[in-house]
Amino acid sequence: MATTLITNIGELVTNDPQAEDLLGAIEDAALVIDGAHVAWVGRADVAPDADQRVDLGGRAVLPGFVDSHSHLVFAGDRAGEFAARMAGTPYAAGGIRTTVAATRAATDEQLTSHVARLVEEMRHQGTTTVEIKSGYGLTVRDEARSLAVARQFTEETTFLGAHVVPDGDPGEYVDLVTGPMLDAAREHARWIDVFCERGAFDGDQARAVLRAGAAAGLKGRLHANQLGPGPGVRLAAELGLAAVDHCTYLEEEDVAALRDSGTIATLLPGVEFSTRQPYPDARRLIDAGVRVAIASDCNPGSCFTSSLPFCIALAVREMGMTPAEAVHAATYRGAEALDRLDVGALVPGRRADLLVLDAPSHVHLAYRPGVPLVVQTWMGGAPI
Ligand code: NIG
Ligand code: FE
Repeated sequence: MATTLITNIGELVTNDPQAEDLLGAIEDAALVIDGAHVAWVGRADVAPDADQRVDLGGRAVLPGFVDSHSHLVFAGDRAGEFAARMAGTPYAAGGIRTTVAATRAATDEQLTSHVARLVEEMRHQGTTTVEIKSGYGLTVRDEARSLAVARQFTEETTFLGAHVVPDGDPGEYVDLVTGPMLDAAREHARWIDVFCERGAFDGDQARAVLRAGAAAGLKGRLHANQLGPGPGVRLAAELGLAAVDHCTYLEEEDVAALRDSGTIATLLPGVEFSTRQPYPDARRLIDAGVRVAIASDCNPGSCFTSSLPFCIALAVREMGMTPAEAVHAATYRGAEALDRLDVGALVPGRRADLLVLDAPSHVHLAYRPGVPLVVQTWMGGAPI
């Protein structure tokens, strides 16, 4: 297997958990890749030889972003809804049904090429691992085919049949989700998720869906406390889920439950940007000892950005995070939120998934918002 030395790295963010600083940053660094994995990291002046050599001219290298929350399988456009929000109409979960109608009407090919375009956008902004949910089909057939489309792009697929009740009786719909829909979805999914919110599913319904998912071999995650306080965050903590996402409206009990359970709070600042809601308080969570991840939530309704650099800049400016905390949250914590031990850090043995910034340090991601600083993305040891 050929080895590659990447050298003259101005700042290498390793996220080495053994390091004294959060990012395990090394200045004037080098990294050796063997096949698909990192073989060595350290100072450039003591780097070992390799078959090939790449000189980065002082640019920064970071682990590829791990976007642990997205809804890329959909059709249609809701720009009009966004414009109305910016003119004062509040966000409501019911807009999901507009996308459901368009998604059901789309062919598999149309859905696949749309996901491909969005994944490509993500890759060019440094995302190397992405989780993709279903949730805009909401029939047995449309949820199964949404997941089959998502599976072409990632192992991290999530069954979100419990997104909203499309029509009819909610109890009957939960029976469908936990029965025939789950049976059709399970072979294409690793995770199961529920939108636990007023206007979507309550705590008891969420518990029933997660329990059925667990019995079918799917790991649970939740959308919770996005539009107001609710039972979702405490349910996620009680069940020991890997992550609970949104966490915008938290009571003291919720924060304590997250701290005690170790469940990751995944914050999605693009949503508050796009819905004009108050941002979640990352500072409060981190200071309480909660592990915080950042993800995009890329979807046509509440947040149509595919850019983790944008989310990092928002997290720093609006949620009280330092640039180092925000970068760590979009890489290392994202990997933890997906129970992935092979990505999210650049240390020997992990996958050589990385991004190169046309800047000397990670700070520039927030210091130069809106500037396309990611100039290379490498996956499995090779540039894409
Ligand atoms: O994560 N919260 C639920 N689902 C998406 C929004 C879906 C939509 O409005 O289409 C979210 O914000
Ligand atoms: Fe979401």
